[in-house]
Amino acid sequence: METILITGGSGLIGTSLCELLADRGHQVIVLTRSPSSAKRKFDPAIKNISFAAWNIDKGNIDEDAILRADHIVHLAGAGVADKRWTRRRKKEIVNSRVKSSELLLNALKRTAHKVKTVASASAIGWYGPDPSIPNPHPFRESDPADNHFLGETCRLWEQSIQPVTDLGIRLVILRAGMVFSAKGGAFPAFKNPLKFGIAPILGNGRQVVSWIHIDDICRLYLAALERADMRGVYNAVAPEPVNNKTLTQTIAHFFRGKNFISFHTPRFAIKIALGEMSVEVLKSATVSCDKLRDAGFHFLYPSLDSALNALKNS
Ligand SMILES: NC(=O)c1ccc[n+]([C@@H]2O[C@H](COP(=O)([O-])OP(=O)(O)OC[C@H]3O[C@@H](n4cnc5c(N)ncnc54)[C@H](OP(=O)(O)O)[C@@H]3O)[C@@H](O)[C@H]2O)c1
Repeated sequence: METILITGGSGLIGTSLCELLADRGHQVIVLTRSPSSAKRKFDPAIKNISFAAWNIDKGNIDEDAILRADHIVHLAGAGVADKRWTRRRKKEIVNSRVKSSELLLNALKRTAHKVKTVASASAIGWYGPDPSIPNPHPFRESDPADNHFLGETCRLWEQSIQPVTDLGIRLVILRAGMVFSAKGGAFPAFKNPLKFGIAPILGNGRQVVSWIHIDDICRLYLAALERADMRGVYNAVAPEPVNNKTLTQTIAHFFRGKNFISFHTPRFAIKIALGEMSVEVLKSATVSCDKLRDAGFHFLYPSLDSALNALKNS
C-alpha cells in the first residue's frame, strides 16, 4: 500500500482514478483548491481518501502532503472546453497547468520527500491536424507540437513538469485523447441531443476523433505508477479512432435505435458558437497508441462498440 497525491483529483478523471486507487488499498490525498468542495465529490464511505490544499496564485502548498506521497499524479488544470477562449481564459488554461507544475516542483526541491514517480496529464491537443493526404500516418509521441493554442499549451505544460526528472523522479506523461465517461466531459455532449431525437454531425464529420474510455485512462495512470519500466510520453488513446460522423451516428444507434435524425452543423455556425475553440472541434487528429501497446498495455475497451456498451451499462 502506497500514498498517492493527486492534483485535480476532484475532476472527471481524478474522481474515478481516486476510487480505483483507494479500491486497490492505496492511501489517496486529493490536492485541491477547495478541500470542502472536493470532499463532496466522493462517497464518504471510502475511508482512504483525504484532502489537502494548495493555492497556485499565492504559491501555497501543503508540504506535509508532499512528504507523505510515494507518487504524484498531476491532473490539475482549468477546463479547456468549459468556456470560450478569451485572452483571459487562455491565460488561465496555461497558467493553471504551468504554475501548478512549478509549485509542485519547488515543493519537491525544498522538502525531504520520497516521491518516486510523477504521472502528469497532457493532451493530444499537442498534435496538429492530420496531413491532408489519404491514409495519413497516425501521430506518434515523437511528432512535434502544433503551433496553435492547444499545441503550445501542451508544450508548455509538459516542459513545466519535465524538471522533476532532474530530481531523480521517474516521469510519465499521458497525452490523452477525448475521454469517454458517462459522468461528464465530451460524451454527454454527444448523448444529450438524443433526448430530442437529434444527432448533430459537426461540419463534414470527416474529422477523426481519438478517444479513450475512462476506465482505460485510469488503469493507464495506475500502470504508470506501478510499472517502473514506463517513462516519458505515451499517447493515451484507444486503438480505433473514428470520425465524427461515425461516432455521432454510432452513439445515436446505441441509445435510440433508428429513432433519430442526423444532420450536418455547418462549420460557420460552429465557428460563431465556439470562436477559436472551433478549430479543435473541427480538427482531425489520428493518434497512434502503438507505444502503449508495445509496452504491453491491454485495453479493456479497444473498440467504440465495447466502450459504448460499457457506458450504456454504467
Ligand atoms: N477529460 C478529457 O477528455 C481530457 C482529455 C485530455 C486531457 N485531459 C487533461 O487531463 C486532466 C484531467 O482531466 P479532467 O477531465 O478530469 O479535468 P476536470 O474534470 O476539468 O478536472 C480538473 C481539475 O483541475 C482543477 N482545476 C480546475 N481549474 C483550475 C485552475 N484554474 N487552477 C488549478 N486547478 C484547477 C480542479 O480541481 P480543484 O477544484 O479540486 O482544485 C478540477 O477538478 C486535465 O488537465 C485535462 O486537460 C482531459
